[in-house]
Amino acid sequence: MMDNIISEDLEKTKNAVKGDAFAEKKALVTGGAGFIGSWLCDALVDFGADVTAVDDLSTGRIKNIDHLTKNPRFKLVKSDVCMFESKVKFDFILHMAGHASPDEYQVHPIETLQTSAVGTEKMAELARKNDSTLLFASTSEVYGDAEIVPTPESYWGKVNPVGPRSCYDEGKRFAEALLMAYGKQYGLDVRVPRIFNSYGPRLREDGLYGRAMSRFILQATTNQPITVYGDGKQTRSFCYITDTVTGLMLLTTNSKAKGEVVNVGNTQEVSILELAKKVKETTKCKSTIEFHPLPKDDPKRRCPDTNKLERLVGWKPTVSFEEGLKRTVTWFSQKP
Ligand SMILES: NC(=O)c1ccc[n+]([C@@H]2O[C@H](COP(=O)([O-])OP(=O)(O)OC[C@H]3O[C@@H](n4cnc5c(N)ncnc54)[C@H](O)[C@@H]3O)[C@@H](O)[C@H]2O)c1
Repeated sequence: MMDNIISEDLEKTKNAVKGDAFAEKKALVTGGAGFIGSWLCDALVDFGADVTAVDDLSTGRIKNIDHLTKNPRFKLVKSDVCMFESKVKFDFILHMAGHASPDEYQVHPIETLQTSAVGTEKMAELARKNDSTLLFASTSEVYGDAEIVPTPESYWGKVNPVGPRSCYDEGKRFAEALLMAYGKQYGLDVRVPRIFNSYGPRLREDGLYGRAMSRFILQATTNQPITVYGDGKQTRSFCYITDTVTGLMLLTTNSKAKGEVVNVGNTQEVSILELAKKVKETTKCKSTIEFHPLPKDDPKRRCPDTNKLERLVGWKPTVSFEEGLKRTVTWFSQKP
């Protein structure tokens, strides 16, 4: 699905990324029907790349990419990334496949671990065969319940290895270690963005606990109570999708990012209760705020130190929380 808000935002991404590094190149986007993956597919096609998206549609949605399916530069392969084979010599592999929300990965912990472990090894082998640049979507969750906030990449993390979130956190940590090993042993060109909560048009709004931004907007616009877990004092940093996509694209093409792990996120730290109140204010809804018990191992604070992103690629996120929230609410309220 393409609409005015998304086209305007893509134009801004294009201006921020600039250059022709993707023109006539072959790119593979795993998880291409998902939230971030579909934005990347749009941006890459716009930049003149030939894009193959691979997605098993477990959480992705065809409607995120149906406008691309008639474009000769775009192809969707419905497959589990763990089984994906290709003879195409991809210049870039952007490996986004994964179960990103606690509501999803806690129901599918084994598939979540397999996608991070087997799927990432599969992508590393494909990249090694073709000498591709491999960008892997890691996460702020590798820091667990961080003791240093804003969190720099040098912080090793505080993760419960057997808790309810471990399938996701430890899966991503394994994938990071695997890719560092591929870099060291085979000289593979790997780049590892650690993405902090990203949001915007196409973010799924289903689920009970994860994806607070889209869930709150849905609850507010349908006059349901807004469900806050815990006292709402826990914080997150919300990065608008165009900023996330710009960061990922710059890290894919800038040679300074080779072999690096880099935080991608917005540095404005917001409490979940503040988010609930802002959503109420922006949507002008009458929903009440309802408090539920905080799930186990929920991180208390999350905010990236983005100095490394700025130093390596000369860029930092630009869309404020207020502006991004307004755009997202508008998009959700115009959605058919
Ligand atoms: N959205 C965020 O805030 C955020 C934050 C940190 C990291 N990430 C990471 O970024 C990536 C994209 O996240 P998203 O928010 O777009 O999630 P998403 O669920 O919208 O997209 C993930 C896509 O991967 C697909 N997928 C899952 N397992 C697969 C498999 N085994 N084979 C093929 N396809 C598979 C899903 O169908 C979906 O389309 C994920 O790896 C996630 O862990 C996202």
